[in-house]
Amino acid sequence: MIGHAPGATVALRPANPEDESLLQAIALSARADALPGLDGEVLAMQASVVRRARAGRVPPADEELVLVDGEPVGAIATARTPGVLELIDIALLPRWRRRGIGTAVLDRLFTVADDERRTVRARVYHTNPRAHALYRRLGFVDVDRDELSWMIERRSASAAS
Ligand SMILES: CC(C)(COP(=O)(O)OP(=O)(O)OC[C@H]1O[C@@H](n2cnc3c(N)ncnc32)[C@H](O)[C@@H]1OP(=O)(O)O)[C@@H](O)C(=O)NCCC(=O)NCCS
Repeated sequence: MIGHAPGATVALRPANPEDESLLQAIALSARADALPGLDGEVLAMQASVVRRARAGRVPPADEELVLVDGEPVGAIATARTPGVLELIDIALLPRWRRRGIGTAVLDRLFTVADDERRTVRARVYHTNPRAHALYRRLGFVDVDRDELSWMIERRSASAAS
């Protein structure tokens, strides 16, 4: 158990190979949000490419399922490099959004990062202003941008500079 959203217990568990179709569905729903206007087939291809790239990452990503009262409702992927805890992706299935679950998961991530004295780093597409707004509300700041996305960071008070 990592926390509570209103009326629900939120937990994480490591994803395993049997979770792949669920992870694919979650990735697809997240692409639909982050890249509005693309048709279903293109989004599905994009989600597959993301899943394949994830599998080949160095260092490997840690993928966890987000459970609400034991039911898998989303996923978070992170990776550690020196001094950094990278938030690669976080997504919930659409009907579970906007209930405080993402905030509970991110609060937990910050606790882990603070314990390990790491800066949390993430990228967010310009096409996803709601996620960007949430991240900024939770303490991330913009550190760079390119044509596709913002690079954002949330620095631990105790992170090495
Ligand atoms: C981003 C996400 C994980 C946040 O989790 P959540 O449980 O919905 O967030 P909370 O309930 O704790 O906070 C709600 C806030 O999330 C933000 N948000 C971002 N994307 C959202 C979405 N697709 N739907 C609803 N809220 C979203 C909004 O700022 C919202 O605040 P508001 O209610 O004032 O508009 C979740 O909304 C999601 O899976 N979105 C689609 C995938 C995505 O965009 N991932 C981020 C990739 S960088």
